[in-house]
Amino acid sequence: MTQHTQFASGVATEDPRNVAVVLESRGLQKTYGSGEKSICVLADANLSLRRGEMVAIVAPSGAGKSTLLHLLAALDTPTSGTVYFATKAIESIHDGALAEFRNRAIGFLWQRHQLLPDFTAAENVAMPLLVRGENLASALGMARKWLAEVGLDNRADHRAGELSGGEQQRVAIARALVTGPSVLLADEPTGDLDEQNAWAVFELLERLHRTHQLTSLIATHNLALASRCDRILVLEHGVLRTPEAAATASGTLGGEAS
Ligand SMILES: Nc1ncnc2c1ncn2[C@@H]1O[C@H](COP(=O)(O)OP(=O)(O)O)[C@@H](O)[C@H]1O
Ligand SMILES: [Mg+2]
Repeated sequence: MTQHTQFASGVATEDPRNVAVVLESRGLQKTYGSGEKSICVLADANLSLRRGEMVAIVAPSGAGKSTLLHLLAALDTPTSGTVYFATKAIESIHDGALAEFRNRAIGFLWQRHQLLPDFTAAENVAMPLLVRGENLASALGMARKWLAEVGLDNRADHRAGELSGGEQQRVAIARALVTGPSVLLADEPTGDLDEQNAWAVFELLERLHRTHQLTSLIATHNLALASRCDRILVLEHGVLRTPEAAATASGTLGGEAS
């Protein structure tokens, strides 16, 4: 019998722990603006993220990495094409249930951590649990457990704004994972860090990916970090390709990677 994950709002998906492909995009297109000023950022982005994979998306600044990750996380809607989470088309999730879907299904890591500087590390990590209605004591307890996982138990009561860049990103990782998502989407998570901190944060992501059986997609322009992932996809001219296909691409659109 197929097992389902049921959200409080009534939305059900297949259990992401049982499907082979956790996150998928088909024919994803995104055009900003209209008329002469419109720009087509994603032309035909196809992706199949298999359960347990750690995949890097490599592309220079402006290529559309953030646009793609926002669409995959249901933070924005495509011009056309479809994103599937555990075989469910996310466009079929009604507006009232989308916030809950984002809160539970996907952990999102931003390049600039987006922490609330005046709140403590523990309060920042607890925030997504409070949003979903957990009581304060239990949310803070979970937050402390996650801060310990990222090596910051001794910073739990420090204001986020007082932490170093690397520490802030680790708090953001704890906040992204405290809700128990099956997919982690990370948008240049080491882009603002020096080399040493970038490696430390990446190694932490690798460890958490393994120990929590995540499926992870990491946008980066750091090839050394990307080469540590299970595979690399190159985002170029609005399509995703394997590095080999990208190297030989003739410039025509419509490539596919899975
Ligand atoms: N909300 C928006 N409105 C108009 N153009 C946008 C918007 N967001 C991104 N863009 C443009 O889309 C392109 C891709 O941006 P982005 O996805 O942020 O790329 P990356 O993350 O790879 O640097 C850029 O040219 C950017 O200026
Ligand atoms: Mg970006």
